[in-house]
Amino acid sequence: MVKQIRSRAPHRPRVFVTRALPGTGLERLAARTHLEVWPAPGGPSYAELVRGARDADALLCMLTDRVDAALLGACTRLRVVSSCSVGLDHVDLAEATRRGIPVGHTPGVLAETTADLAFALLLATARRVAEADRFVRSGGWTPERRWEPELLLGRDVHGAVLGSVGLGQIGRAMARRAAGFGMRVLGWSRSRRRVAGVERVALEDLLAGSDAVTIHLALTPETRGLLDARALARMKPEAFLINTARGGIVDEAALAEALAAGRLAGAGIDVFESEPLAPSSPLLALENVVLTPHIGSASIATRVRMADLAVENVLAGLAARALPHCANPEVQPASATRSRRR
Ligand code: DGY
Repeated sequence: MVKQIRSRAPHRPRVFVTRALPGTGLERLAARTHLEVWPAPGGPSYAELVRGARDADALLCMLTDRVDAALLGACTRLRVVSSCSVGLDHVDLAEATRRGIPVGHTPGVLAETTADLAFALLLATARRVAEADRFVRSGGWTPERRWEPELLLGRDVHGAVLGSVGLGQIGRAMARRAAGFGMRVLGWSRSRRRVAGVERVALEDLLAGSDAVTIHLALTPETRGLLDARALARMKPEAFLINTARGGIVDEAALAEALAAGRLAGAGIDVFESEPLAPSSPLLALENVVLTPHIGSASIATRVRMADLAVENVLAGLAARALPHCANPEVQPASATRSRRR
């Protein structure tokens, strides 16, 4: 599915892409630009990223690439940064804006796919699916334990109360899935938005009143650590926490402690404070946790749509057109004649 592409055309705008992408987007870029795609999985280190982007007119990056003030200062040719992600906590947006660089991202195309994974984690956690799989594979399912009335008992998802922290596109997609399972849905959002079928409540009441809490917020200075030890302590001991948003929103050490002490029933976690998850993480030792490696948007169709949109953002930026999805729309695409704020 993934193609390795580069094109040599020094007279064209230079584009540095930090990973091979699925779909045909890179072919479109190669036809119009001098394209350099980082060839190895895992992407460039920070130093390699700076080196790769130093002479580039456009940078197409991933959420694992740190695009900070130092990089933006070193890469003075950049006319557009496009991230193949909706989240932009890896990009210094204020600095890009100050420098007049539009930053593209990929909202709108991954909400349903991410909600699918959040709901899968909810089901897997409540019904102990990963634990049951480990039980079968490790030879625990023996003739002596063919079917036991109390083997691997979980909790019902249907009819339970779901609390959505965040009611953006992904939170609303999760609420629609919950409605299909006959769940009552509580919701809290910073924007205090009203959503049909969702009872808007204070965050404290959502935490205390939900059988499962699911997080759908961007990571910002305001949301970092929002689910700290105090917030987690408000949750019912039989409740589950699902996080497909960003790890930094939850105090991971406090979560592991609460899970180990039985102050929370379980968690389904796709995103972590530091990725990849360190082998020393206490979460790895807990049976009541389902862990996935940041795959919320990882369906074939959605990753192709994200790649296409990221490429469209690059092409628009290079052509001095408005980006299809710009996170700092106050910045107009730089034209060749416009003076730059450096
Ligand atoms: C994003 O795009 O920010 C998601 O985390 C990718 O799954």
